Amino acid sequence: MTENRPALAVFASGNGSNLQALIDGSKTAGWPAEIRVVVSDKKDAFALERAKNANIEAVWFSPKQYASREAYDLGLVELLRQRSIDWVILAGFMRILSPVFVRPYLGKMINVHPALLPKYPGTHSIERAFQAGEKEVGVTVHFVDEGVDTGPIIVQEAIPVQPGETLEQLTGRVHDVEHRIFPEAIRDVILGRVKFVRNIG
Ligand code: GRF
Repeated sequence: MTENRPALAVFASGNGSNLQALIDGSKTAGWPAEIRVVVSDKKDAFALERAKNANIEAVWFSPKQYASREAYDLGLVELLRQRSIDWVILAGFMRILSPVFVRPYLGKMINVHPALLPKYPGTHSIERAFQAGEKEVGVTVHFVDEGVDTGPIIVQEAIPVQPGETLEQLTGRVHDVEHRIFPEAIRDVILGRVKFVRNIG
């Protein structure tokens, strides 16, 4: 069934709790987009199960079939072209995308990151912030550019670390914030309330 709403592809490598938040958000009145496909580089990603449970096409797109990162990324571009995808949502996708993918989707690709960027880009952000004794951590939703977690910020929410809080407790609270602000940010971008402006310098 093809809809008129803009089509999203969600990329996820793991559990897919943010994907689930998007699936749930997309069922609320006025949500302006359709999740048309979920793509994972990992065969056993639970995100693929979540997609199937929601009757969304789930594609395991294995890097092993491709000789290079660029070849894989061109394969992804073609996969999305075949499905007329308008927006790419990175929800825990653990691969760095090369310019051959990023350029065609510049301004049309959004990521969620569990830190107050530009602090703690990359992996294990919550753990590193916690171990550094930060008084606050947070969540950033941002457009994706050719860097790692460097694109223009759409929204950030700070989360004060509570006295005596464990890493597990803090991690749970960070994820709760992600699940709330990620669908809202995507909605605002697709509705044109937030515009992509490229970082200068
Ligand atoms: C989230 O913390 C997200 O911010 C980061 O990867 C994690 C994915 O978790 N990019 P999930 O697969 O959505 O549960």
